[in-house]
Amino acid sequence: EDFTAFLQALPKCEHHMHLEGALTPEVLFQLAAKNHTTFPSDDPAFTSPATLKERYNHFTSLDDFLHYYYIGMEALVTSSDFEALACDYFQHAAADGVAHAEVFFDPQAHLSRGITYDTVLSGFMAARHRAKTEFGITSELICCFLRHLPASNSLQTFALPSVQASFHNKQVIGIGLDSSELDFPPELFKDIYTDAEKLGLKRTAHAGEEGPASYIQTALSTLRTQRIDHGIRLIEDPSLLHQIATAKILLTVCPYSNVLLRCATSIASLPIRHFLSAGVQFSINSDDPAYFGGHYILDNYLAVQDAFHLSLDEWATICRAGISGSWCCEARKVVLL
Ligand code: ADE
Ligand code: ZN
Repeated sequence: EDFTAFLQALPKCEHHMHLEGALTPEVLFQLAAKNHTTFPSDDPAFTSPATLKERYNHFTSLDDFLHYYYIGMEALVTSSDFEALACDYFQHAAADGVAHAEVFFDPQAHLSRGITYDTVLSGFMAARHRAKTEFGITSELICCFLRHLPASNSLQTFALPSVQASFHNKQVIGIGLDSSELDFPPELFKDIYTDAEKLGLKRTAHAGEEGPASYIQTALSTLRTQRIDHGIRLIEDPSLLHQIATAKILLTVCPYSNVLLRCATSIASLPIRHFLSAGVQFSINSDDPAYFGGHYILDNYLAVQDAFHLSLDEWATICRAGISGSWCCEARKVVLL
Protein backbone atom coordinates (compact mmCIF):
# COMPACT_ATOMS: atom_id res chain seq x y z
CA GLU A 1 0.00 0.00 0.00
CA ASP A 2 1.24 3.48 -0.83
CA PHE A 3 1.21 5.69 2.26
CA THR A 4 2.63 8.77 0.52
CA ALA A 5 -0.65 10.65 0.08
CA PHE A 6 -1.83 9.70 3.58
CA LEU A 7 1.40 10.76 5.30
CA GLN A 8 1.53 13.96 3.26
CA ALA A 9 -2.04 14.84 4.29
CA LEU A 10 -1.53 14.23 8.03
CA PRO A 11 -1.35 17.60 9.87
CA LYS A 12 2.31 17.24 10.77
CA CYS A 13 4.17 19.27 13.40
CA GLU A 14 7.92 19.58 13.07
CA HIS A 15 9.80 20.14 16.36
CA HIS A 16 13.39 19.45 15.46
CA MET A 17 14.99 21.23 12.55
CA HIS A 18 17.83 23.71 12.60
CA LEU A 19 17.22 26.53 10.13
CA GLU A 20 20.96 26.65 9.41
CA GLY A 21 20.57 22.96 8.47
CA ALA A 22 18.34 23.99 5.54
CA LEU A 23 21.34 25.49 3.72
CA THR A 24 21.74 23.43 0.55
CA PRO A 25 25.13 23.18 -1.22
CA GLU A 26 23.68 25.15 -4.16
CA VAL A 27 22.48 28.05 -1.99
CA LEU A 28 25.71 27.87 0.04
CA PHE A 29 27.80 28.44 -3.11
CA GLN A 30 25.48 31.21 -4.38
CA LEU A 31 25.58 33.12 -1.09
CA ALA A 32 29.33 32.60 -0.70
CA ALA A 33 29.88 34.15 -4.16
CA LYS A 34 27.61 37.09 -3.32
CA ASN A 35 29.12 37.70 0.13
CA HIS A 36 32.76 36.95 -0.85
CA THR A 37 32.97 34.14 1.71
CA THR A 38 36.03 31.92 1.35
CA PHE A 39 36.08 28.17 2.01
CA PRO A 40 38.95 26.08 3.42
CA SER A 41 41.34 25.74 0.46
CA ASP A 42 42.70 22.40 1.67
CA ASP A 43 39.38 20.52 1.47
CA PRO A 44 38.46 19.32 -2.05
CA ALA A 45 34.83 18.88 -0.91
CA PHE A 46 34.46 22.65 -1.42
CA THR A 47 35.20 22.41 -5.16
CA SER A 48 31.54 22.57 -6.19
CA PRO A 49 28.01 22.00 -4.87
CA ALA A 50 28.18 18.46 -6.30
CA THR A 51 31.43 17.54 -4.50
CA LEU A 52 30.11 18.99 -1.26
CA LYS A 53 26.86 17.03 -1.59
CA GLU A 54 28.90 13.88 -2.18
CA ARG A 55 30.96 14.56 0.97
CA TYR A 56 27.71 14.89 2.95
CA ASN A 57 26.95 11.24 2.11
CA HIS A 58 29.95 10.13 4.19
CA PHE A 59 29.68 11.78 7.60
CA THR A 60 31.45 9.65 10.19
CA SER A 61 29.98 11.22 13.35
CA LEU A 62 28.05 14.18 14.75
CA ASP A 63 31.29 16.19 14.97
CA ASP A 64 32.25 15.40 11.36
CA PHE A 65 28.88 16.84 10.28
CA LEU A 66 29.15 19.84 12.60
CA HIS A 67 32.50 20.79 10.99
CA TYR A 68 30.69 21.29 7.64
CA TYR A 69 27.61 22.80 9.29
CA TYR A 70 29.63 25.62 10.89
CA ILE A 71 31.66 26.32 7.74
CA GLY A 72 28.46 26.37 5.70
CA MET A 73 26.78 29.02 7.79
CA GLU A 74 29.65 31.46 7.22
CA ALA A 75 27.97 32.19 3.86
CA LEU A 76 24.97 33.68 5.74
CA VAL A 77 25.53 37.41 6.25
CA THR A 78 22.55 39.68 5.59
CA SER A 79 19.04 39.62 6.96
CA SER A 80 17.78 38.65 3.49
CA ASP A 81 20.17 35.66 3.46
CA PHE A 82 18.54 34.39 6.65
CA GLU A 83 15.08 35.12 5.24
CA ALA A 84 15.83 33.20 2.02
CA LEU A 85 17.22 30.29 4.03
CA ALA A 86 14.10 29.99 6.17
CA CYS A 87 11.78 30.53 3.17
CA ASP A 88 13.50 27.64 1.41
CA TYR A 89 12.71 25.44 4.44
CA PHE A 90 9.08 26.61 4.70
CA GLN A 91 8.54 25.86 1.00
CA HIS A 92 9.63 22.26 1.55
CA ALA A 93 7.55 22.11 4.73
CA ALA A 94 4.46 23.26 2.82
CA ALA A 95 5.00 20.70 0.06
CA ASP A 96 5.40 18.00 2.74
CA GLY A 97 2.18 18.95 4.54
CA VAL A 98 3.61 20.56 7.66
CA ALA A 99 0.94 22.45 9.63
CA HIS A 100 3.13 23.81 12.42
CA ALA A 101 6.93 24.09 12.76
CA GLU A 102 9.04 24.89 15.81
CA VAL A 103 12.48 25.61 14.44
CA PHE A 104 15.92 26.02 16.02
CA PHE A 105 18.62 28.55 15.29
CA ASP A 106 22.17 29.00 16.65
CA PRO A 107 22.82 32.69 17.44
CA GLN A 108 26.31 32.13 18.91
CA ALA A 109 27.54 30.78 15.57
CA HIS A 110 26.56 34.09 13.96
CA LEU A 111 27.51 36.49 16.78
CA SER A 112 31.04 35.02 16.75
CA ARG A 113 31.32 36.12 13.09
CA GLY A 114 30.14 39.66 13.79
CA ILE A 115 26.54 39.10 12.61
CA THR A 116 24.09 40.71 15.02
CA TYR A 117 21.26 38.81 16.65
CA ASP A 118 18.75 41.24 15.15
CA THR A 119 20.07 40.59 11.62
CA VAL A 120 19.38 36.88 12.07
CA LEU A 121 16.07 37.33 13.86
CA SER A 122 14.60 39.88 11.43
CA GLY A 123 15.31 37.55 8.49
CA PHE A 124 13.67 34.62 10.23
CA MET A 125 10.67 36.72 11.33
CA ALA A 126 10.07 37.86 7.73
CA ALA A 127 10.16 34.23 6.56
CA ARG A 128 7.75 33.14 9.29
CA HIS A 129 5.33 35.84 8.22
CA ARG A 130 5.47 34.62 4.62
CA ALA A 131 5.02 30.98 5.73
CA LYS A 132 1.84 31.97 7.55
CA THR A 133 0.32 34.09 4.78
CA GLU A 134 1.45 32.02 1.78
CA PHE A 135 1.13 28.48 3.20
CA GLY A 136 -0.91 28.77 6.41
CA ILE A 137 2.03 27.29 8.35
CA THR A 138 2.27 28.46 11.95
CA SER A 139 5.75 28.51 13.47
CA GLU A 140 7.77 29.27 16.56
CA LEU A 141 11.47 29.99 17.07
CA ILE A 142 13.68 28.23 19.61
CA CYS A 143 17.08 29.73 20.42
CA CYS A 144 19.75 27.05 20.83
CA PHE A 145 22.96 27.31 22.84
CA LEU A 146 26.15 25.61 21.70
CA ARG A 147 27.45 23.11 24.23
CA HIS A 148 30.99 22.96 22.77
CA LEU A 149 31.54 26.59 23.85
CA PRO A 150 32.08 27.60 27.50
CA ALA A 151 28.82 27.96 29.43
CA SER A 152 29.89 31.55 30.14
CA ASN A 153 29.54 32.32 26.42
CA SER A 154 25.98 30.95 26.48
CA LEU A 155 25.16 33.01 29.56
CA GLN A 156 26.51 36.19 27.95
CA THR A 157 24.47 35.48 24.81
CA PHE A 158 21.34 34.74 26.85
CA ALA A 159 21.76 38.08 28.66
CA LEU A 160 22.18 40.24 25.52
CA PRO A 161 19.49 42.94 25.43
CA SER A 162 18.44 41.90 21.89
CA VAL A 163 18.07 38.27 23.00
CA GLN A 164 16.14 39.21 26.13
CA ALA A 165 13.88 41.46 24.04
CA SER A 166 13.07 38.56 21.68
CA PHE A 167 12.00 36.45 24.67
CA HIS A 168 9.93 39.25 26.11
CA ASN A 169 8.06 39.97 22.86
CA LYS A 170 7.58 36.22 22.22
CA GLN A 171 9.40 36.24 18.88
CA VAL A 172 11.45 33.46 20.50
CA ILE A 173 9.47 31.15 22.79
CA GLY A 174 12.07 28.77 24.10
CA ILE A 175 15.64 27.57 24.38
CA GLY A 176 17.49 24.45 23.28
CA LEU A 177 20.98 22.96 23.62
CA ASP A 178 22.84 21.54 20.63
CA SER A 179 26.25 20.91 18.98
CA SER A 180 28.83 18.31 20.14
CA GLU A 181 27.23 16.14 22.79
CA LEU A 182 29.85 13.76 24.20
CA ASP A 183 31.80 15.28 27.12
CA PHE A 184 29.37 18.22 27.33
CA PRO A 185 26.72 17.01 29.80
CA PRO A 186 23.53 19.04 30.21
CA GLU A 187 24.26 20.13 33.79
CA LEU A 188 27.01 22.49 32.54
CA PHE A 189 24.14 24.71 31.35
CA LYS A 190 22.01 24.66 34.49
CA ASP A 191 22.21 28.43 35.08
CA ILE A 192 20.72 29.39 31.71
CA TYR A 193 17.90 26.88 32.09
CA THR A 194 17.11 28.18 35.57
CA ASP A 195 16.91 31.72 34.21
CA ALA A 196 14.85 30.55 31.22
CA GLU A 197 12.31 28.87 33.50
CA LYS A 198 12.01 32.08 35.55
CA LEU A 199 11.23 33.95 32.31
CA GLY A 200 8.51 31.41 31.46
CA LEU A 201 10.41 30.09 28.42
CA LYS A 202 9.91 26.61 26.98
CA ARG A 203 12.92 24.34 27.40
CA THR A 204 14.34 21.46 25.41
CA ALA A 205 17.83 19.97 24.90
CA HIS A 206 19.54 17.54 22.56
CA ALA A 207 20.29 14.45 24.66
CA GLY A 208 20.83 10.75 24.00
CA GLU A 209 21.81 11.30 20.36
CA GLU A 210 25.51 10.33 20.60
CA GLY A 211 25.61 10.77 24.35
CA PRO A 212 24.42 8.27 26.98
CA ALA A 213 20.92 7.92 28.46
CA SER A 214 22.24 9.60 31.63
CA TYR A 215 22.31 12.88 29.65
CA ILE A 216 18.56 12.48 29.08
CA GLN A 217 18.12 12.02 32.82
CA THR A 218 20.11 15.14 33.73
CA ALA A 219 18.46 17.24 31.00
CA LEU A 220 15.12 16.40 32.64
CA SER A 221 16.14 16.62 36.29
CA THR A 222 18.73 19.44 36.21
CA LEU A 223 17.65 21.53 33.21
CA ARG A 224 13.96 20.72 33.77
CA THR A 225 13.35 20.40 30.03
CA GLN A 226 9.84 19.74 28.76
CA ARG A 227 11.06 17.86 25.67
CA ILE A 228 14.14 15.85 24.67
CA ASP A 229 15.67 16.21 21.20
CA HIS A 230 16.64 12.81 19.71
CA GLY A 231 16.59 10.72 22.91
CA ILE A 232 17.05 7.47 21.00
CA ARG A 233 19.42 6.08 23.64
CA LEU A 234 16.51 6.14 26.08
CA ILE A 235 16.03 2.39 25.40
CA GLU A 236 19.24 1.78 27.36
CA ASP A 237 17.47 2.85 30.58
CA PRO A 238 14.09 1.09 31.00
CA SER A 239 13.19 2.87 34.24
CA LEU A 240 13.87 6.30 32.70
CA LEU A 241 11.83 5.23 29.66
CA HIS A 242 8.90 4.43 31.92
CA GLN A 243 9.30 7.78 33.69
CA ILE A 244 9.29 9.68 30.36
CA ALA A 245 6.21 7.81 29.15
CA THR A 246 4.35 8.66 32.38
CA ALA A 247 5.41 12.32 32.31
CA LYS A 248 4.42 12.57 28.61
CA ILE A 249 7.78 14.09 27.67
CA LEU A 250 7.96 14.37 23.87
CA LEU A 251 11.07 12.99 22.14
CA THR A 252 11.86 14.63 18.80
CA VAL A 253 13.26 11.74 16.77
CA CYS A 254 15.21 12.36 13.52
CA PRO A 255 15.51 9.08 11.59
CA TYR A 256 17.68 10.01 8.59
CA SER A 257 19.91 12.15 10.79
CA ASN A 258 20.57 9.24 13.16
CA VAL A 259 21.59 6.93 10.32
CA LEU A 260 23.68 9.48 8.38
CA LEU A 261 25.55 10.57 11.56
CA ARG A 262 26.04 6.91 12.51
CA CYS A 263 24.08 7.16 15.73
CA ALA A 264 21.99 4.23 14.42
CA THR A 265 22.89 1.52 11.91
CA SER A 266 19.54 1.74 10.07
CA ILE A 267 16.11 3.29 10.41
CA ALA A 268 14.74 -0.19 11.18
CA SER A 269 17.08 -0.33 14.20
CA LEU A 270 15.50 2.77 15.81
CA PRO A 271 13.34 2.06 18.89
CA ILE A 272 10.11 3.20 17.21
CA ARG A 273 8.16 0.04 18.14
CA HIS A 274 9.50 0.12 21.72
CA PHE A 275 8.39 3.72 22.09
CA LEU A 276 4.92 2.98 20.69
CA SER A 277 4.33 -0.03 22.92
CA ALA A 278 5.66 1.72 26.03
CA GLY A 279 3.54 4.80 25.37
CA VAL A 280 6.56 7.11 24.90
CA GLN A 281 5.42 10.18 22.94
CA PHE A 282 7.60 11.13 20.02
CA SER A 283 7.56 13.15 16.82
CA ILE A 284 9.42 12.50 13.55
CA ASN A 285 11.65 15.28 12.23
CA SER A 286 14.27 16.24 9.64
CA ASP A 287 17.01 17.86 11.84
CA ASP A 288 19.29 19.28 9.08
CA PRO A 289 17.56 18.27 5.83
CA ALA A 290 19.99 19.98 3.44
CA TYR A 291 22.90 18.08 4.99
CA PHE A 292 21.12 14.75 5.31
CA GLY A 293 20.47 13.74 1.71
CA GLY A 294 17.86 16.44 1.12
CA HIS A 295 15.44 14.41 3.21
CA TYR A 296 12.80 16.76 4.60
CA ILE A 297 10.09 15.68 7.04
CA LEU A 298 7.91 13.62 4.67
CA ASP A 299 10.89 11.48 3.59
CA ASN A 300 11.48 10.76 7.29
CA TYR A 301 7.82 9.71 7.75
CA LEU A 302 8.03 7.50 4.64
CA ALA A 303 11.27 5.88 5.78
CA VAL A 304 9.67 5.04 9.14
CA GLN A 305 6.70 3.53 7.33
CA ASP A 306 9.01 1.49 5.06
CA ALA A 307 10.90 0.16 8.07
CA PHE A 308 8.02 -0.48 10.49
CA HIS A 309 4.78 -0.86 8.46
CA LEU A 310 2.76 1.10 11.02
CA SER A 311 -1.05 1.00 11.03
CA LEU A 312 -3.30 4.00 10.43
CA ASP A 313 -4.07 3.97 14.17
CA GLU A 314 -0.38 4.06 15.04
CA TRP A 315 0.12 7.03 12.71
CA ALA A 316 -2.85 8.77 14.32
CA THR A 317 -1.19 8.23 17.72
CA ILE A 318 2.11 9.69 16.49
CA CYS A 319 0.39 12.64 14.85
CA ARG A 320 -1.67 13.47 17.97
CA ALA A 321 1.41 13.24 20.20
CA GLY A 322 3.12 15.78 17.94
CA ILE A 323 0.19 18.17 18.19
CA SER A 324 -0.24 17.88 21.97
CA GLY A 325 3.52 18.18 22.48
CA SER A 326 3.69 21.38 20.43
CA TRP A 327 4.26 24.78 22.00
CA CYS A 328 1.65 26.61 19.94
CA CYS A 329 -1.47 28.14 21.49
CA GLU A 330 -4.25 25.83 22.65
CA ALA A 331 -6.63 27.09 19.95
CA ARG A 332 -4.20 26.04 17.22
CA LYS A 333 -3.89 22.60 18.82
CA VAL A 334 -7.68 22.18 18.81
CA VAL A 335 -7.78 23.09 15.11
CA LEU A 336 -5.01 20.59 14.30
CA LEU A 337 -6.50 17.80 16.43
N1 ADE B 1 23.23 21.08 15.33
C1 ADE B 1 22.55 20.86 14.19
N2 ADE B 1 22.12 19.61 14.13
C2 ADE B 1 22.51 18.99 15.27
C3 ADE B 1 22.35 17.69 15.81
N3 ADE B 1 21.71 16.70 15.17
N4 ADE B 1 22.90 17.42 17.01
C4 ADE B 1 23.57 18.36 17.67
N5 ADE B 1 23.74 19.60 17.21
C5 ADE B 1 23.21 19.92 16.02
ZN1 ZN C 1 19.34 18.65 16.03
